[in-house]
Amino acid sequence: MPVLAVIEPGGDLAVVLYIVAFSLFIFGVRRGTHPTTAKQGNLIAAVGMAIAVATTLLLDGIGNWGLIIVGLAIGAAVGVVASIRVQMTQMPQMVALYNGVGGGAVALIAWSEIRHGIALGEEIPLDQLVPILFSAVIGSVSFWGSNIAFAKLQDLIPTKPLAIPGQQVINALLLAGILAACVALGINNDDPSQGLFVGVLIAAAVLGNLVVLPIGGADMPVVIALLNAFTGLAAAAAGFALDNVALIVAGTLVGSSGTILTLEMATAMNRSVANILFAGFGGAPAGGGAGDGEERPHISIGAQDAAIKLAYADSVVIVPGYGLAVAQAQHAVKEMADELEKRGVTVNYAIHPVAGRMPGHMNVLLAEADVPYEKLREMDEINPELPRTDVAVVIGANDVTNPAAKNDPDSPIAGMPIIEVHEAQQVIVIKRSLSPGFAGIDNDLFYEPNTSMLFADAKRAAAEIAGEITEL
Ligand code: TAP
Repeated sequence: MPVLAVIEPGGDLAVVLYIVAFSLFIFGVRRGTHPTTAKQGNLIAAVGMAIAVATTLLLDGIGNWGLIIVGLAIGAAVGVVASIRVQMTQMPQMVALYNGVGGGAVALIAWSEIRHGIALGEEIPLDQLVPILFSAVIGSVSFWGSNIAFAKLQDLIPTKPLAIPGQQVINALLLAGILAACVALGINNDDPSQGLFVGVLIAAAVLGNLVVLPIGGADMPVVIALLNAFTGLAAAAAGFALDNVALIVAGTLVGSSGTILTLEMATAMNRSVANILFAGFGGAPAGGGAGDGEERPHISIGAQDAAIKLAYADSVVIVPGYGLAVAQAQHAVKEMADELEKRGVTVNYAIHPVAGRMPGHMNVLLAEADVPYEKLREMDEINPELPRTDVAVVIGANDVTNPAAKNDPDSPIAGMPIIEVHEAQQVIVIKRSLSPGFAGIDNDLFYEPNTSMLFADAKRAAAEIAGEITEL
């Protein structure tokens, strides 16, 4: 029974409030495009979401407040605790979970709409049934696919690409079966079978699992962005079915931004989205062994030697990577850079678009340590300067500096644009061992004559180097 209903569905007030809500989404996304305004953008979009949720809950016809309040309380508690506890390095898993929940919610809404139509005993018009079926299929694929992505990134299941014999054929048959069932539901729209609809949900669930399981852990961030785009499109379709304009706009925003992000990540790795989905590439866990057990000759140095090389340089470029995030070394690195700048050394940071494990990972970390934005230089901008750079310091980065991407056409990462540190006069690589990065391949940079390896945790090494510089 309605308790608080004050807004007429589809009435002027509802429309105005929804327009305010999605204008805030759009403004928030726009503010999110720069590190200085991203936090504010997030808050603005959250206010928009609060307005959209409150408007929907106050619509005439909404009831069952006990259940709604329990749902809101559980969702808020889980969201707040998870957001406080999650580490920056675990953010991709968190996004995968949230995205999966969104897809699952959309699939459930579709199911409830079908049940509603069947209960009324009236024909469900096709302009309503088609978006419902679209939401159900894509939402279910996204829910299950995102859960697999979460489990891989959280090491709950093996991150290696899982080869499933005949997988492409099985996927094609599943897809054909889903389409056939949807057509049958459409033809019988005066009395659609709930059993067949549940079959569609289950087949889509199996498809979601089978599509993501064969993809290696290293490619999961791209898969998550793609599934995110799917969830957005499914939500937009649900908006058409429910005649809810806020859902249509929010879903379209998520769908389009997820698609752009997917394409940008694929471009930054010089791979097609199809290659990422079907090539079964990149299964080695971060920091895993090279595999053949052989150790190639390399130069190893300590913090004091590194401090001398850096302190007597004119220009230094710092290249951060995933290991810097794991070690939480951003503050120590900033202190090291401050010590160098006190001595008149020019210090810049080279940011690779897929360094770390999520878009903008390095920008966020370095911003946390108050590194000025103008010192964060993008790959294309810094590469031409590297031959003139005295020392490039690679801190916890690996794949994004691997010259094999440029020089070895047979390398699995051939063609991926890299930060060309091997062009610098001298290179110092700070990491704990010679282990490969996320792509699971050895890095020729470590064995170059102008490269010195400093084997240590990134945070400890940066702090030690900063201390040594002050002693010089
Ligand atoms: P990676 O190639 O993954 O290398 C990270 C290195 O950090 C490891 O080799 C590891 O070596 C080192 N490390 C780990 N913990 C450390 C610690 N406490 N202190 C010091 N070093 C530590 O990182 P990257 O160069 O940033 O490349 C990113 C990879 O992720 C690329 O393959 C990229 O394609 C992939 N990827 C990224 C994204 C986005 S959006 N960022 C999306 C999809 C895929 P040790 O174990 O020897 O220390």
